[in-house]
Amino acid sequence: MNDLSWAATQLAARKPDHSLPQGLYTDPRAFDFDLDAIYARSWLMAGLECELPTAGSRLALTIGKWPVLIVRDKTGEIRAFHNSCSHRGSILCEAGHGSAPRLICPYHRWTYGLDGSLLAAGRMPADFNKGEHSLRPVPLRRVAGAIFICLADDPPEFDSFGQQFEAYAGPLNFANLKLAATDLMVEEANWKLVMENARECYHCPTGHPELGQSFPVQSAQDTVDRDFVEAMDRLGLPHAGVEGSWWQLARFALNAGCSSISMDGQPVCSRPLTTLNGGNVGSLRWAIDPHLFAHATGDHVFVFSCMPVGPRETHVFSRWYVHKDAEEGRDYQIPALKELWLKTNLQDKELAENNHRGVLSPGYRPGPYSLEAERLVTRFADWYCQSAKDYVASHG
Ligand SMILES: [Fe+2]
Repeated sequence: MNDLSWAATQLAARKPDHSLPQGLYTDPRAFDFDLDAIYARSWLMAGLECELPTAGSRLALTIGKWPVLIVRDKTGEIRAFHNSCSHRGSILCEAGHGSAPRLICPYHRWTYGLDGSLLAAGRMPADFNKGEHSLRPVPLRRVAGAIFICLADDPPEFDSFGQQFEAYAGPLNFANLKLAATDLMVEEANWKLVMENARECYHCPTGHPELGQSFPVQSAQDTVDRDFVEAMDRLGLPHAGVEGSWWQLARFALNAGCSSISMDGQPVCSRPLTTLNGGNVGSLRWAIDPHLFAHATGDHVFVFSCMPVGPRETHVFSRWYVHKDAEEGRDYQIPALKELWLKTNLQDKELAENNHRGVLSPGYRPGPYSLEAERLVTRFADWYCQSAKDYVASHG
């Protein structure tokens, strides 16, 4: 049985509103299948434009097995390329942020402009046509200061998300941010268990006592707080939950007296992103399937991104952004900025790893989701199964 027919069998066994068949979490075949069917075909948020502040700024990242490079050129244009030299395929730039006026392959010094065009290739014949050897582009979209990429040549529809994201995130001026801190957490769990955990707060009251200080962990996020709704309406800040097949957006009230998602609910950066409503604009949450959730409060932005690296290994990248004029040590302290989500992610890592170990049991049977407390997990699992089935149907 090849991987596609194996996946089709697994997907056909999915019971509605239940967790997935065991093999989709634990079988090594699920890893390659998920990368091809899901990660290679979905819009992913690569980061914020502020991470590429000047001409030549670049960000190299790995999507599953695939290296991608994002570059800002002299005109301010931002482009994405496969991070693979057109000569013999070497990685051009190591993962992470960097800056240089040209992209030079470390192997044989083939040299590219910031627009991906090949500028120099030594010892090639006189009739060698450099124009035929540009870097291969990756579809990229920029909205409200955020960068989205998709490895597919025919990406899913984007504009309905883009228009809503502009309306919800635009007022926070993400272009005025800077990346203040990052973290990489390695989790010994299948990426879908990591994401299922990230899509519900059923476990939060017991699992995350610190998060519960500021985050309304007991309630559905669409619970209406009249005062908050009226304040947001007065300011013209959209708040109602909106969603499409692969995304969700909502602005919601934090717990009483809290204006940030932090250990004590107070701002972790004294240089606000907005002065609207005294800096208390609740939290703008956005979620993108398959890999991300993020929260923007009046003082900082937190982004959680999940990348599968093996059948039972997942990288969780965390990023914290503050206003670009905020000064470390004066306006914010990195340990305080990171403390809540580091604690929360560590708690979730243990939950996801326990989940994976339990799913390996011969006693595992898919169990029912709570449609009240796990609505977004159900959505995630349904989206995953539908995307996977569509992939099987178009490649079988
Ligand atoms: Fe959690």
